[in-house]
Amino acid sequence: MTGLKLGKGGDRIETEKHGDSDFSLLARGDGSEVIFQTIKQGKMFYVHPAEEAETMEFFYILEGECIYKNDDENITLKQSDYFYVQHLQESVFFSALTDMKILWYTTQPAFHLLSHRIVKLTSVVKQVEEKDNYTYQHSCRVQEYSFKIARMLKLSKDRLEDLYLATVFHDVGKINIPEEILNKSGRLTEEEFDIIKRHSYDGYVMVKDLYYTNISHIILQHHERLDGSGYPYGIKEDDIMLEAKIIGIADTFDAMTSDRPYRKGLDPTIAMAELKRLSGIHYDSHLVDLFEKALILDGILKK
Ligand SMILES: [Fe+2]
Ligand SMILES: [Fe+2]
Repeated sequence: MTGLKLGKGGDRIETEKHGDSDFSLLARGDGSEVIFQTIKQGKMFYVHPAEEAETMEFFYILEGECIYKNDDENITLKQSDYFYVQHLQESVFFSALTDMKILWYTTQPAFHLLSHRIVKLTSVVKQVEEKDNYTYQHSCRVQEYSFKIARMLKLSKDRLEDLYLATVFHDVGKINIPEEILNKSGRLTEEEFDIIKRHSYDGYVMVKDLYYTNISHIILQHHERLDGSGYPYGIKEDDIMLEAKIIGIADTFDAMTSDRPYRKGLDPTIAMAELKRLSGIHYDSHLVDLFEKALILDGILKK
């Protein structure tokens, strides 16, 4: 039945182990996640204030007992009891009196923070940053610019989440590019450019096994261009994912406006003029227009 998902026999999207606890992602949609968590007897567990205050996190005790301690009281929570947090000011902690099973529902994605593979990939992004001084901050800025466009488009929470991770990892494949090529100030030879071009495919391979299936395809396509002049496949127009088109614009804008060791970044007005010159050829003109509007709204560009 369309729209129905059954999970039988211990079906899990992904399971991560942290010390003695297991976290299994059971379902995700529209930015919410349902996670099944086990905790061993005697262990403490914490709930921290969420990055976004509005986030609601709900915990239902399926099995076991724990104790909530604060300065003046001890409260025991048992099977079928629950607790939830929103606008939490400081971390709260509980200790498990027995082995426990908890169902955790959150209105903001949390599982990626527990994912060892994502943590590992983030450290690869940091290594790329060391090799190529501009890349990591570059990824942050590409994220910021991409979100300016995404907000104007009112993308769904799921797509925003994919976009968030795709921007962080879009250049992770650059780890395979030798430093001399990455930081070469002069013109690249054809062979060198071929090596650079491999990074979108290499990035795709590195992230394709994550449970966020879409992000690998976004990364693969972030250098594709509307007229087919991009790489690695030269795909065109509607064959390019919307998120990849967004990152393509944000990426180019940042590449043009940031300072590099061998040259100063362009003024945003000049960079925007260049995007507009290639609008409808390389870049989706509607997205370029939205980006221009967002930059004007934020005072980065003048009217
Ligand atoms: Fe790239
Ligand atoms: Fe990039």
